[in-house]
Amino acid sequence: MDGLDNLRKKYLDQISTKSNQDSLESLRITILGKKGELSLKMRELGNMTSEERQSFGPILNSLRTDVTSAFSKKKTELEDSKLNERLKNEWIDLTLPARNRASGSIHPISQVTEEVSAIFAEMGFSVAEGPQIESDWYNFDALNIPPEHPARQEHDTFFLNRNDGDDQAPNVLRTHTSPVQIRHMISNGAPCRIIAPGRVYRCDYDQTHTPMFHQLEGLAIGRDVSMANLKGTLEEFCKKFFEVEELELRFRASHFPFTEPSAEVDLRCAWDNGKLEVGKGENWMEILGSGMVHPKVLKASGVDPNEWQGFAFGMGIDRLAMLKYGIPDLRAFFDSDLRWLRHYGFSSSDQPNLHSGLSR
Ligand code: PHE
Repeated sequence: MDGLDNLRKKYLDQISTKSNQDSLESLRITILGKKGELSLKMRELGNMTSEERQSFGPILNSLRTDVTSAFSKKKTELEDSKLNERLKNEWIDLTLPARNRASGSIHPISQVTEEVSAIFAEMGFSVAEGPQIESDWYNFDALNIPPEHPARQEHDTFFLNRNDGDDQAPNVLRTHTSPVQIRHMISNGAPCRIIAPGRVYRCDYDQTHTPMFHQLEGLAIGRDVSMANLKGTLEEFCKKFFEVEELELRFRASHFPFTEPSAEVDLRCAWDNGKLEVGKGENWMEILGSGMVHPKVLKASGVDPNEWQGFAFGMGIDRLAMLKYGIPDLRAFFDSDLRWLRHYGFSSSDQPNLHSGLSR
């Protein structure tokens, strides 16, 4: 019994001197593990007489209980002191001023594309896309611009190389978004109501032209979609986009090979100190080309012109952005000048988009 008292003292001393969890755990295994000293002692009880067992049993049990609880007390103690240590070292001074974060801005083209898409989405148009490298069939032929047509020259087209000996017509960088009309009708047939925003390319460079710019195509095909629907749609769009109650559009007879009849659309406006005022004044500003889709275009897209008809339009997104936000030079749009981007860019938190609508 005395031996056991010494043992108790030895174990409790050993436990109390441990200063980390690992050494405490290995001590625990040495004493209480399956083959631990105390466990072996407990096993010896089996070889004792029942009298011996009656006196030793409770003593051994209480020794084990004491040692076990000393272990768990020490464990908690070590955990607490480890935590306190961390809390002491990892403290944060919440009164420090925050570091500045560089924040980007939304490019006016992205902003206007979102605005325009949100407005047309409300009118039931979905967004379609097409490739920027097109075959000349999609960019021209299917749109009723055969090889010898003078309109091909007007497009200042970029052509892609063909390998020597390949005598197929070269592919082109699309010169307008109109080929998306063809692609969409071939894949989806009629009726349909889409817009197609995207990049287009023409070899041209001055204050209002860059070799890459952005267009928005519109296409609505149904059994009785008319020029009146075109007019209503464009009026609705312009009112929302320029945020005015009243405005006046002028449809001016024009010509595009892929629409018949064709019209260019002008907006009544005034210039007040270089800022555009829509809906008043004596000036007219051209904003887009449009018309009723030519029967040959419907046919090329596998849509029966005896059954279906509709309108199409195409406008310059960059131009819309310049007008609405008073940006004078188109070339600066694509210079990646940070000062320009900070000045004309938009905050990402007040983006109008397809989901939030236009409300700001
Ligand atoms: N694709 C024409 C252009 O680039 C615009 C347009 C589109 C005109 C659709 C009529 C109908 O100028």
